Amino acid sequence: KHTRVGIIGGGPAGLLLGHLLSARGIENVVLESRTREYVERRQRAGILEQSTVDVLRACGAGERMDRQGLVHEGIELRFDRQAHRIDFPSLTGGRTVMVYAQTEVVKDLIALREGPLLFEAEALSADPATGVVRYRHEGAEHTMTCDVVVACDGFHGIGRASMPAVTTFRRDYPFAWLGILADVPPSCEELIYAHHERGFALHSMRSPHVSRLYLQVDPGDDLADWSDERIWDELETRFAVDGDWKLERGPITDRSITPMRSFVAEPMRHDRLFLAGDAAHIVPPTGAKGLNLAVADVTLLAQALTRWHGVGDESLLDAYSETALRRVWRAEHFSYLMTTMLHRDPHQDPFDDRLQLSQLRYIVGSTAGMTSLAENYVGLPLD
Ligand code: FAD
Ligand code: DHB
Repeated sequence: KHTRVGIIGGGPAGLLLGHLLSARGIENVVLESRTREYVERRQRAGILEQSTVDVLRACGAGERMDRQGLVHEGIELRFDRQAHRIDFPSLTGGRTVMVYAQTEVVKDLIALREGPLLFEAEALSADPATGVVRYRHEGAEHTMTCDVVVACDGFHGIGRASMPAVTTFRRDYPFAWLGILADVPPSCEELIYAHHERGFALHSMRSPHVSRLYLQVDPGDDLADWSDERIWDELETRFAVDGDWKLERGPITDRSITPMRSFVAEPMRHDRLFLAGDAAHIVPPTGAKGLNLAVADVTLLAQALTRWHGVGDESLLDAYSETALRRVWRAEHFSYLMTTMLHRDPHQDPFDDRLQLSQLRYIVGSTAGMTSLAENYVGLPLD
């Protein structure tokens, strides 16, 4: 079997790339190792930056997002028992973000899919020189020969391992996030990022009826040690402010612990093989950049592949890695900054405490400080 573009991975990156290419008449096949139910239910990101919203709208995948997503015009930073709001539109020339879950983006893209999308099809290898992808599907091994292979197979995929020479950069953090989904209306209108001496907490949401909350925990922590009551008590403590504000509790419907790391692989291309999304880079989630970076990568790639397919011009493909990495490193820096400013390192000393608080006070007290946070949070324009 032969195809123009073989796409490994049916997460947001692979599905969106497939959709963008099909819309331009470029034949492609998507291989996804899991079942459709699994990828549609996997709880992950929830914040779409302005350019991600624009891309989804422009390619016809924004219809339900525009009906059900929640436009947010700011966030709240909490520290020292005080709340401080950062307003996005006034600081960024009108830009905002959208609360719309990754699960919903994935469902919308699967529903729009026209070309082949194979579930329970696990790629085993991808050869950068020949474009041959070996995969297992329905109990048998198959091969597919591609002009170009794009590995959108996440951090644990086989794409990056198939690159002959990559340099990797990484940082592991001494903390993790315990994330819950709860059937209770959010106790806030906008997201709350809280700095607290007991550790970071984040109040997010999925809809007017469903809350999504995160707690900094020890990476060695066991979910079994976190009863519902302990989770809610800890959240309540970390969000506490002077004045009246109350955290509403409700039934917890999903929970998990995620380690936090920063990771970049360079370059993002070798010969016929390209990396996109989490396959090439990971950011710690504080700042909500992971999904948005994946969308930015495949938007660039779709433009480059369209030029190559249409007029045989490979210049954009040649520029892909360098162009993508510039945005990747901006997001790496922002995510690192948000993470280190808001979390409590177990080895932190009082000097570090004072620096964190000083940084937070500077940000909320200065238009320059707030602007810097806001423009990174809503995301820089794609070009
Ligand atoms: P993925 O979504 O990982 O998709 C890769 C796909 O490839 C998967 O469907 C996988 O099953 C498939 N695959 C893997 N190997 C193979 C193979 N060999 N053959 C075929 N298919 C394969 N970001 C945030 O901004 N906020 C968050 O709260 C947040 N929480 C997260 C929680 C977890 C547990 C994880 C892992 C990530 C989280 N992220 C979060 C990051 C964000 O979800 C990712 O950046 C985003 O999913 C990247 O999309 P992707 O398509 O590149 O990769
Ligand atoms: C969510 C996740 C994030 O990492 C973040 O910074 C904001 C929101 C979320 O899952 O809703």
